[in-house]
Amino acid sequence: MSHEIYLNGSFVPSEEAKISVFDHGLLYGDGIFEGIRAYNGFVFRLHEHIQRLIQSAQSIALAFPWSADDLEEIVVQTIRRNGLRDAYVRLVITRGIGDLGLDPRNCAEPEIFCIADQIQLYPPAMYENGLRVVTTGVRRNAADALNPRVKSLNYLNNILAKIQANDAGAGEGLMLNEQGLVAEATGDNLFIVQKGRVCTPPASMGALEGITRNAVLDLCRLYEIPVAEVPITLHEVYVADECFLTGTAAELIAVTQIDGRVIGSGKEGLLTHRLHEGFRQLVQKEGRPVYDE
Ligand SMILES: Cc1ncc(COP(=O)(O)O)c(C=O)c1O
Repeated sequence: MSHEIYLNGSFVPSEEAKISVFDHGLLYGDGIFEGIRAYNGFVFRLHEHIQRLIQSAQSIALAFPWSADDLEEIVVQTIRRNGLRDAYVRLVITRGIGDLGLDPRNCAEPEIFCIADQIQLYPPAMYENGLRVVTTGVRRNAADALNPRVKSLNYLNNILAKIQANDAGAGEGLMLNEQGLVAEATGDNLFIVQKGRVCTPPASMGALEGITRNAVLDLCRLYEIPVAEVPITLHEVYVADECFLTGTAAELIAVTQIDGRVIGSGKEGLLTHRLHEGFRQLVQKEGRPVYDE
């Protein structure tokens, strides 16, 4: 099916939405992006996504002419233009077209595009039965290399981990940081439940500060469930009562097996279920409207 893609100021059919082979986003992964969801005509936490995009840009010294309002409007317009109510949106800004050298000063101006489509990250059976996860040997980038807090176009670190997880026949791969502490999964944040307390690694441990992660932390506070951002070892994951992953694309999914260890009851745990339900309700009632209703 053809989509209307926002590309550098206008909408074009997907077949005509083309980026130059000299774009440094393609040549070097030099750019940033956001993955955003709309539910029933409302964009979930759009402001937070755009703020993270702006921070990613600032961190990689990528200057662009669009204000936060412009970027929010581009997302909303792209969803509207495609007549979608439930959508997965990809907003991408690259360093732009340059020569074959990596020096970003050779790129005249940044390029921007926005796609509104659908996504199904894991098959429905995995949402029902939980994910089987393995720890990969690929360490999350160190903060003084490509900081994992930057949502950049360079995802090779995560892709290498995903390849290992695929090879092991697992649904997801866990990534540790340089100290051997749990950072996150290849495209999701990790949570564990220990004796009624919900824990997730702080961003400083090598995790992206996920928008879904923050929504789950908000839900815990709302429900008065004890919650903590603390360093987590693999041992603590193995002996956790419950474990789950969060992400815009994945939403919230239980992890029922890690490295051959069954977690808790081997099914979606009670707190995970409660947070899962709470998240489903939250996304239906919060967000920036796409349509005038
Ligand atoms: C590496 C990584 N971690 C975590 C997440 C989850 O973040 P969010 O909930 O903002 O989608 C993502 C999602 O893009 C990701 O790529």
